[in-house]
Amino acid sequence: MTETLVVTGASGFIGSKIAARAVSTGYRVVNLDKRPSSNPDLDTRACDISDVDKLADVFPAEAVAVVHMAARTSVLESKTDPQGVFDTNMVGTQNLLELSRRYGVRSFVLASTNAVVGETKDAYITEASALAPLTPYGATKAAGEMLLSAYAGSYGIACASIRLTNVYGTGMQQKDSIVPRMMRALLGGQPLEIYGDGLQWRDFVYAADVVDAFFIALDQGLVGPLVVGAGQSFSVRDVVSAAERAIGREVPVVWGPARSGEMRGVRVDITRARAMGFEPRVGLVEGLGRVWDDFSRA
Ligand SMILES: NC(=O)c1ccc[n+]([C@@H]2O[C@H](COP(=O)([O-])OP(=O)(O)OC[C@H]3O[C@@H](n4cnc5c(N)ncnc54)[C@H](O)[C@@H]3O)[C@@H](O)[C@H]2O)c1
Repeated sequence: MTETLVVTGASGFIGSKIAARAVSTGYRVVNLDKRPSSNPDLDTRACDISDVDKLADVFPAEAVAVVHMAARTSVLESKTDPQGVFDTNMVGTQNLLELSRRYGVRSFVLASTNAVVGETKDAYITEASALAPLTPYGATKAAGEMLLSAYAGSYGIACASIRLTNVYGTGMQQKDSIVPRMMRALLGGQPLEIYGDGLQWRDFVYAADVVDAFFIALDQGLVGPLVVGAGQSFSVRDVVSAAERAIGREVPVVWGPARSGEMRGVRVDITRARAMGFEPRVGLVEGLGRVWDDFSRA
């Protein structure tokens, strides 16, 4: 019998790719999102996940698993609207967990973030790193992880939190992170604004690789956190150089002020993910080339 998978946020950048993969592997996918989806293969039901009554009206009782991607995702914006971010990211997660309990869902996978950890200086982030988020966004994701831990411990739902680094890939035209900002700047003939000195280091992981990690967690019934990234970090200046190699053009830059709440550096240890079969396959230059092609076509 065809199994029903709920993907929240499947109208968004990463959720749309998870939903498409799920359909191709035989799931029926119910997409719970505020926005419409362009994918006709999904059963998209418009809702705000923070509204428990409306959510209960559209949540499918036959769901076997939930991949929870819907969120307010901007780290910097979360500082100007912490309450709004709380409502979606925390209340929304609690609402979904409660409906999952009611209907006997067996697995629940949350899109979390390395921002739950906060400042680590040069240390590698692992699943055992202490949680000390620097922003409301990071705090809501850390709290979401705690809710998942409770629903695993109390009700036996296989709850996993995938702590993602900076995800980039095709279909990210609506996003506001460094890679899409760079692509838009290039297309518009404008310089890219770099916040601070550009020496802040990040782990950039390609979206298709990230999708693999979610299915590994789902298929293996993972419980607990999993750090997922490329396992290699680059400075923002390195990313600009990689884009120049990928595209064959200079990227003009202007320097702006550093943003508070941004982690200075992110280095992640993906040993546990690798032990479960995860392997990042798309390198930075190749990935940026694909994103450039996608932006150029759009
Ligand atoms: N993109 C990254 O680099 C990155 C890194 C770490 C974690 N994450 C997490 O991965 C998930 C997906 O990120 P993305 O980049 O695809 O984001 P996105 O903004 O493209 O997609 C999020 C989706 O959630 C929906 N949504 C937002 N608030 C909602 C609400 N109240 N009710 C219903 N739907 C709502 C939006 O309409 C959107 O379609 C998020 O949970 C994000 O926090 C992303």
